[in-house]
Amino acid sequence: MINNLQSERITLREMEEKDWIDVHKYASQEKVCQYQPWGPNTEQQSKDFVKQVLIDAKKEPRSRFVFAIIVRESGDMIGAGEITIRDYSNKVGEIAYIVNPQYWGKGFATEVAKLLIAYGFNDLRLHRIFATCDPRNIGSSKVLEKVGMSKEGRIRENLLLKDGWRDSLLYSILEHEWGKTGQGGIEIG
Ligand SMILES: CC(C)(COP(=O)(O)OP(=O)(O)OC[C@H]1O[C@@H](n2cnc3c(N)ncnc32)[C@H](O)[C@@H]1OP(=O)(O)O)[C@@H](O)C(=O)NCCC(=O)NCCS
Repeated sequence: MINNLQSERITLREMEEKDWIDVHKYASQEKVCQYQPWGPNTEQQSKDFVKQVLIDAKKEPRSRFVFAIIVRESGDMIGAGEITIRDYSNKVGEIAYIVNPQYWGKGFATEVAKLLIAYGFNDLRLHRIFATCDPRNIGSSKVLEKVGMSKEGRIRENLLLKDGWRDSLLYSILEHEWGKTGQGGIEIG
């Protein structure tokens, strides 16, 4: 069991079975998955997603870490943040996040990305953390830029969406760059 990750307004805690209900509140919405290869989810698909997360959490060595995003003030579960080790030898990880549309535009995804990156460098001892997003996904690009990631370029047609092949923007941050960008307010507890 991993300790919760905390910032000023949110807690990231490991996902639990009951979370499928709150996952479904956003994963069933078209606007949440318009740039994703999955969804909108049926109830069964949201349950299956959480089941798979719990199965992956037990694997040894563990590569996938999925957290529920909890607003500290209200206790509401408003999304999910994920970090996955993609390459153990070269210490490479990938982050991803989703926020319930009711909470968009309040800086939550930026806070989540910072916590995931801190966890990746401090606890998982990664050297490089990357993320990809759809070139049309302005919100996600902004999040990645705001946390200090650099845009490395555009990967051509690496993902098949419902409406065809999609390019991805590739962003990354390196271990030694992380301390320099002045990320404060991160506590582990
Ligand atoms: C992308 C997503 C995570 C952003 O979440 P969020 O909590 O609204 O993000 P933040 O509030 O931290 O926003 C960061 C910046 O992006 C901007 N932004 C957010 N959504 C935007 C949009 N649709 N268009 C333009 N700018 C947007 C915010 O205004 C903010 O910029 P600012 O600080 O200059 O004002 C959210 O829209 C989402 O969950 N989308 C669906 C899933 C998804 O695409 N996940 C990412 C996969 S790569």
